Amino acid sequence: MPSLNDIRSTFLNFFERNGHKVVDSSPLVPRNDPTLMFTNSGMVQFKNLFTGAETRDYKRATTAQKCVRAGGKHNDLDNVGYTARHHTFFEMLGNFSFGDYFKEQAIPFAWELLTKDFGIPKDKLLVTVYHTDDEAANIWKKVAGLTDERIIRIPTDDNFWRMGPTGPCGPCTEIFFDHGDHIWGGPPGSADEDGDRFIEIWNLVFMQNEQFEDGSMRALDMQSIDTGMGLERIGALLQGKHDNYDTDLMRSLIEASAHATSNDPDGPGKVHHRVIADHLRSTSFLIADGVMPSNEGRGYVLRRIMRRAMRHVHMLGAQDPVMHKLVPALVRQMGAAYPELTRAQAMIEETLRSEETRFRQTLDRGLRLLDDELAKLPEGANLPGEAAFKLYDTYGFPLDLTQDALREQGRSVDTAGFDTAMAEQKAKARAAWSGSGDAKDAAIWLELAEKHGSTEFLGYDTEEAEGQILAVVADGADLGEATEGQTVSIVVNQSPFYAESGGQVGDTGLIKTETGAARVTDTKKVAGVFLHMAEVTLGTISRGQGATLSVDHDRRSAIRANHSATHLLHEALRRALGDHVAQRGSLNAPDRLRFDFSHNSAVSPEELARIEAEVNDFIRQNSPVETRIMTPDDARGLGAQALFGEKYGDEVRVVSMGQLADSGKGADGQTYSLELCGGTHVVRTGDIGAFALLGDSASSAGVRRIEALTGQAALSHLRDADRQLSEIAGILKAQAGDVVNRVKSLADERKALANEVAQLKRQLAMGGGGAGQAAKDIGGVKFIGRRVEGVGGKELGALVDEMKLQLGSGAVLVLAEAEGKATVAAGVTPDLVDRISAVTLVQTATAALGGKGGGGRPDRAQGGAPSLAAADDAIAQVEKLLEETA
Ligand code: ALA
Repeated sequence: MPSLNDIRSTFLNFFERNGHKVVDSSPLVPRNDPTLMFTNSGMVQFKNLFTGAETRDYKRATTAQKCVRAGGKHNDLDNVGYTARHHTFFEMLGNFSFGDYFKEQAIPFAWELLTKDFGIPKDKLLVTVYHTDDEAANIWKKVAGLTDERIIRIPTDDNFWRMGPTGPCGPCTEIFFDHGDHIWGGPPGSADEDGDRFIEIWNLVFMQNEQFEDGSMRALDMQSIDTGMGLERIGALLQGKHDNYDTDLMRSLIEASAHATSNDPDGPGKVHHRVIADHLRSTSFLIADGVMPSNEGRGYVLRRIMRRAMRHVHMLGAQDPVMHKLVPALVRQMGAAYPELTRAQAMIEETLRSEETRFRQTLDRGLRLLDDELAKLPEGANLPGEAAFKLYDTYGFPLDLTQDALREQGRSVDTAGFDTAMAEQKAKARAAWSGSGDAKDAAIWLELAEKHGSTEFLGYDTEEAEGQILAVVADGADLGEATEGQTVSIVVNQSPFYAESGGQVGDTGLIKTETGAARVTDTKKVAGVFLHMAEVTLGTISRGQGATLSVDHDRRSAIRANHSATHLLHEALRRALGDHVAQRGSLNAPDRLRFDFSHNSAVSPEELARIEAEVNDFIRQNSPVETRIMTPDDARGLGAQALFGEKYGDEVRVVSMGQLADSGKGADGQTYSLELCGGTHVVRTGDIGAFALLGDSASSAGVRRIEALTGQAALSHLRDADRQLSEIAGILKAQAGDVVNRVKSLADERKALANEVAQLKRQLAMGGGGAGQAAKDIGGVKFIGRRVEGVGGKELGALVDEMKLQLGSGAVLVLAEAEGKATVAAGVTPDLVDRISAVTLVQTATAALGGKGGGGRPDRAQGGAPSLAAADDAIAQVEKLLEETA
């Protein structure tokens, strides 16, 4: 008996053999469709190939595509567990032709695979075609030899397939399997078609139209093929089962659930196990694809599915969280075909465990409230909307969980009443907002937030995605559209752009629609709404349009590297300097990172070097960066670094990186850095490339600031430093390694030379050492009056002292010029100071030079002069003074 894994391979191999490229399943969150909540069929990732908007290097493809149908057009949630063939998660096998083959080959392919490779008896198969599609009917006749009764014409939309309200579509032919007359049911199109005897196994869609929002349709330029066969259905058939939940894969999950809850898989709790098995698959795959439980959008659908499963776990009597214990069984079954599941295993387990722990805290009380309410109602009456709202609001019961709980009693909920209660609560919240005194400008954002909810951020996993334009805002008003040259804030329902927060700067990039383009220069957020601040560079951008949003890749990569490096730096600082190191601020820009932290003294160059080396060690370790969602308490319990005083919601995102080798030093014994963080990060630490510290400085009292570079910027910085060093070595004619010693000895040499030069200058100034001979005798007083060049400052004083020494007894006058400054200095030996004052000599000289003043003591004085132009006269004046006084 082939396993589901075998059947998947047989399918893909068959089409590969027939010239199809085997393409990986795309993520469950569609990147290329703003209107679709989840990937709900195999063709979603090829949507733009059908319309011709995109081409690839293949025209035939085959996939096993993971799909979720739990919201939107194809929603199976309500029936899951109670029926044989409803799932929130399933795999769709498909083959695709993009303008290559059409009906004439798609039908023979399907017939050959089913009847030869899968060996299904021909007489068990019958088909439907769209009522006007004679061509398909004829091909079936020719290829399969089916009689007219076994080619049923269906005039309804059942045989016209649409992905959603818009997009490629076309008539289809469906292949049915007849399980035999021991099961009740009629062929498709008959009154009894809802019975279980005739089961649809494969849908072949002849893509030839495109549907638009206004209801109109155009014929596509090329004719294509999109087929879909649910793996679980064909699996059940080939395994001789009637119920998808009896296939090997689903059965193993059901048994895991039975085991974990100590229950009989086929006993009274059967439905619960089925729901758990199904929901385990959808929740695990959604988490693996980056969806996190939240109270809005996709995250809320995930939460609804999780909580629904958790109620069924509870019904089985389990006392502790169970869902996370089932993940290994799922990974064993599906991890090989979907490696992303294995990669995300820890995150899936953590997310499920924390959600279940939290939900269990209110589940009991909620269910009691529900029982109390029901006891008050007459037999069979519906639950009032207000009670359902209370369950939602106070106990975290999504509406469909309450509906599911009531279903077992044949009751339902007054949903209109529920909506009214919800609307009233929103109105109250709005009133509270407007009373909070926020800036008037914020009004538009609050209005948009309330109308559309928060912008869904897709940028953890993708840099390009499609979104729908919800508003084009300028000056606090929604303009509806903007044209070339206008600067506006564009609001979309989902975006890969990161909005500035937590120190990480906002993304830049491009937004394109069918009619225009805008350059996004920054992204910010207000009340959960992302503002893509943009200049329209081409045509017009309008509300309601679909848009392709692409983030500037290089810039984002650099930001990511800097942000991840900041986490490593934070941890390295903490380990080097102590636990008091806490983040006080940070900037993660494309060109650098800045990290402010509490610490009282400068970080020494040796410590900085060690910290830099440690960060680089973890970069080279190239270990995966992991993200998990948990409660703030769990995160702190693990030792995650969080901002003190920061408010966190119910869930926090925990980013961990770096693995410790058995040191036991990590918070959880394994992980180096663990931080609460909503930012974007590298996939592996090696992506940071390199880390270079620029240095440490004081930011404010008790706060230090470190700036650093990563990746190419770090390398360029180091390269520049190295080039300068080589240049210096070249000038010194030294090896780079000798430069420090050489510079040291150069500095010493320079000092020695400077002393020598000063000495020589003085000697020169004194006339080559024979000062005594140059002295004049003026009335018995020896006097030297001289003009010197290049002597200034302290040297001048030293020169005067030396001249006095040489004279033994006498007076000295020096007129000096150095660095454009003229100075007069005079000295009188101690034996003469009673009669002659150096101060008077200086003042006489400066006056003769056209200046004024000068001062000092009687034995030594100094003063400035405008110039030495009248030097000879100044000396003459002083000699005259001496003559008079001597
Ligand atoms: N896209 C088609 C379906 O989902 C094949 O049924």
